[in-house]
Amino acid sequence: MEKKEKLYEGKAKIVYATDEKDKVIVYFKDEATAFNAQKKDVIEGKGILNNKISSLFFQLLEKNNIPTHFIKQLSDREMLTYHVKIIPIEVVVRNIATGSIVKRLGISEKTEFNPPLIEFYLKNDALGDPIICYEHIIALNLTTDEDIKIIKDLALRVNKVLREFVEKANIILVDFKLEFGKKEDGTIVVADEISPDTCRFWDKETGERMDKDRFRLNLGDLTKYYEEVLKRIEK
Ligand code: C5P
Repeated sequence: MEKKEKLYEGKAKIVYATDEKDKVIVYFKDEATAFNAQKKDVIEGKGILNNKISSLFFQLLEKNNIPTHFIKQLSDREMLTYHVKIIPIEVVVRNIATGSIVKRLGISEKTEFNPPLIEFYLKNDALGDPIICYEHIIALNLTTDEDIKIIKDLALRVNKVLREFVEKANIILVDFKLEFGKKEDGTIVVADEISPDTCRFWDKETGERMDKDRFRLNLGDLTKYYEEVLKRIEK
């Protein structure tokens, strides 16, 4: 597998072409951003941890027959994935209220959502990823009604598998963000990453935050907690 030209650079990852048209290499950087990149830092080792944790989670999903873009982990910071066309919607699944929903809707912190709540956001940094609804997705032609049904079903299945898995590691899956992509044959797969940068994880015993809220809320020790997540899920 030969690494070719850079195709795309985002806030936390770089995507490179390979000598196979349908496959790309995703490189995980140490950059941390929050609040639509208004807060920025470099946290040494974060990229390595997110690559490892994401690789484990993608393998877990594959084992549970949930299609993903993941092929294999290549190195500390790199994974090989299918080259997909990203659907420009960020899908958030919430089990417990915290973060933006508490501010936006005045819901009490830690309110439980049963069934889990699914939200859509427009993937657009310049606009600050605004929240959108089903009708916006159709009106803006972001994807089809049929695709949304598949995406919702996959998002809920990911929630169930991940939630039960981390629960065994004494971790509460509070909420997370997914991105979906289309493979050349039209299959919709879970793409991007699944890591403590994109999920909220709370320690079941102590309630401590084990995710990017350590950076967002200036709690410190981010890599220590990401390492702890990795240690618990590797078992
Ligand atoms: O900020 P908010 O409460 O809406 O975040 C919900 C979940 O989605 C969190 O787990 C957060 O880490 C994730 N998220 C993300 N990327 C964004 C927005 C939210 O990974 N652009």
